[in-house]
Parts: sequence; structure tokens; C-alpha cells
Amino acid sequence: MPVILAIESSCDDTSAAVVADGLVLSNVTAGQAVHEEFGGVVPEHASRAHQRNIVPTVAVALKRAAKTAAQIDAVAFTRGPGLIGSLMVGVSFAKGFALARGLPLIEVDHMQAHVLAHFAEDPKPAFPFLCLTVSGGHTQLVVVHSALEQEIIGRTIDDAAGEAFDKSGKLLGLPYPAGPEIDRRARLGQPTIEFAKPDPGELNFSFSGLKTSILYSLQKKIKEDPDFVKDNLNDICASIQHIIVSILLRKIQLAVAQTGLKQVALAGGVSANSGLRQGLQELGEKNGWEVFIPRIEYCTDNAAMIGVTATFKFAEGAFSGQDVAPAARF
Ligand code: KG4
Ligand code: ZN
Repeated sequence: MPVILAIESSCDDTSAAVVADGLVLSNVTAGQAVHEEFGGVVPEHASRAHQRNIVPTVAVALKRAAKTAAQIDAVAFTRGPGLIGSLMVGVSFAKGFALARGLPLIEVDHMQAHVLAHFAEDPKPAFPFLCLTVSGGHTQLVVVHSALEQEIIGRTIDDAAGEAFDKSGKLLGLPYPAGPEIDRRARLGQPTIEFAKPDPGELNFSFSGLKTSILYSLQKKIKEDPDFVKDNLNDICASIQHIIVSILLRKIQLAVAQTGLKQVALAGGVSANSGLRQGLQELGEKNGWEVFIPRIEYCTDNAAMIGVTATFKFAEGAFSGQDVAPAARF
């Protein structure tokens, strides 16, 4: 019955969780408002904010779980992928904590953890299942054979789906990260504008052309009506969301046809998107799939998913030495 302290610091959220025998006792995340004014994550600011936040975040996570440092059996951390300066803060903290208390260390792959966020609460999918992981840095279709055997069968060849939301939002002058704001506005508008749908074939994704297509079509509309963006912001957001979601859902359909898997899961920050959640639910009902969508707290970056993944690794005795180093790319 391991009690695991888990740390996540791969991007701009400092998160700590206590997971006891796979059960999430606490999950505390400190965001970083500093990036808003720069319109994106500034790595240097991110590492400094992690450095400030990590000790208080862990202290709150322990307190909420009603555990003391002496009751922790292992320390888990995100080894990568992510921003190297951000990862270094979490890895160093985990190493220090483990060394001070003589505890084993468990390194976790951030992308594997997004998928295993489904095991943070019920209902849990059974292996094997299909998972679309969509975040600010990644877009992957994964066949999850078992907890630690995950096969990537499709991926983006350029931007991630979250980047597509964020960069389109930047064109519209929305604050970073624009995904949640596009989602909010999309619910107030109609998808009236068509954009080109780039498709690199098979189960792969491409989003960088979409951004250009949005830019050109908006420029054309602005020429006819200088107030076009201001007057039609909700419809523009609905149109952007509609095309991104329809690209994702189409590839899920292809992946189901190809793999024969009928359990379909969503993971990563973009799975917080209401259009994607609803669209997948509807597709599932129509096609008789079992659909799994985590609570939003477990979609965006969080340490609970790191602790849950570490629980699987603990059972296999998959520990790391004190010489482990963060890896920006896996
Ligand atoms: O997984 P995540 O928290 O961080 C990593 O990138 O690993 O994902 C963040 C991404 C951002 O691009 C953000 O705009 C997007 O998730 N996002 C959303 C929504 N909430 C977060 N995109 C669309 N609709 C949302 N509701
Ligand atoms: Zn993530």
C-alpha cells in the first residue's frame, strides 16, 4: 500500500499530489499568471515560478491528504517531456525529498501519465483501450495495451491541437491560453465560417496550415468590414472550435475502424473543451462505444496523474537512481 508523493512541473503549472494505493488523497496545482502578459509560456519565468511555488504546493498537498513527510513511501516526478528548466525544479525537489528521507524515486513520462489520469477515479477503462491525448504540446492517438505499454498510432506532424487553439486565439487578440476562452465564446456563437482542413493522411494530424487559413480568411473579411472580428468574435470562435474538434473526431473514427477498439478515452488539457467532450459523447452513443472523459482537474496538467502512474510503476519495482536527469524530449 504505497503512499506516493507526486510532483508535476513540466510546463507552467506546479502541482503536487498524494496518492495512496492508487487513490488520490490530494491534488494541488499552482498556476502561473505571469505568462498571460507575454501571450505564451516564457520558460525562464516558468522555472522561477516553479522554484517559488514548489515548497508551499507540496506542503498544502501533504496537509490536505492528512499525511506527514514521514508517512510517504516513495517520491514520483515528471521526468519529461517538457521545458527543461521547469522539469529541473520538480526533479531536484523530488531527489532532495527522497534523499532526505531515504525513499525510492519513480520517474514518470508526462504523456503516459495524461493517459493514466483515467485511473484517478471511476469509471476506469479496461485494457486495451484507445486514447486521444490532446494538450498544448502534444496530439497523439494511443493504443493503451496495459498501463505501461502504450503504442502511439497517430500524432501531429506540426502544431498540437492546444497550440491551434492558442495561436488562433492570439490572432483574435485573446489572452493566453486562448483555448478556454474560445470554448466559452464558441458556446455563444455559430460555426458560420469555413476554413481549410489540412490532413496529412493516415492517423496523423496537422494544425499549422489551419492557423494560416484562419489568418487569410479573417484578413479577407476585415478588408470588406474593418469591424468584422469585433462584431463576430463568438461566431469566429465557434468556427475555429468546430474545425479543430471535427478534425480530432474524424481521426478517432478512423482509429476505431482500424483497431476495432470500442473503448475511447480523451486525455490532456484540450479534453476540457466542451465541444470535443460533447462531440465524442454523441459519436459514442451513435456507434456504441464506451467513452471515457476525465474530470477537468485531471485533463489539464496535474500531479495526481503522476502519482497514479507511479503506483503502477511501484508495483513493478520500476525505480530510478539519484543520477536520473530530466529529459525535455522522450
Ligand atoms: O495538458 P495541458 O494542461 O498542458 C500541456 O500542454 O501539457 O494543456 C494545455 C492546453 C492549452 O493549449 C489550452 O489552451 C488547452 O489545453 N485548453 C483548452 C481548454 N482548456 C485548456 N483548449 C480548448 N478548450 C478548452 N476548454
Ligand atoms: Zn500536459
